[in-house]
Amino acid sequence: MTVAALEKILEDREGTADQLIETLQDIQQADGYISEESITAVSDKLGVALIEVYRAACFYKAFSLTPRGRHLITVCLGTACHVRGAHRMIDEVIGQLGINPGETTDDGLFTVESVNCLGACALGPVVVLDDKYHDHMTPSKLRKLIESVRKQEGKA
Ligand code: FES
Repeated sequence: MTVAALEKILEDREGTADQLIETLQDIQQADGYISEESITAVSDKLGVALIEVYRAACFYKAFSLTPRGRHLITVCLGTACHVRGAHRMIDEVIGQLGINPGETTDDGLFTVESVNCLGACALGPVVVLDDKYHDHMTPSKLRKLIESVRKQEGKA
């Protein structure tokens, strides 16, 4: 993110400490992650201790301290999804993309993450692609989802 873009976000949020989470959300949305420079700038501008900004950026799953791919695949590995075969979704991701949860493909197209529950246990296994929930997932449904993104991005 450019310095000007970051300053605009900080200005729009009026530079008050109670806007910390919203400010981090704006940065995450604009940049796809929260850089070290952004954390320092937020701390300076909002008058919030560096450790507090860092803690907030680490605490919430919505924030990432490393660049994410253009598309985020979140696989639920909670108990309800696990007993319905969520591990097969991870196997499919590894087979299709060659990455493990927490990693991003070399072309920057996908980041894969795992979580312990998405609050839709009765619908498991659940996979979220770019904020859209997909229930009762199977490896073949997941393969089709990945293929559709690749097509949409002209990388099929
Ligand atoms: S365990 Fe997967 S949604 Fe709750």
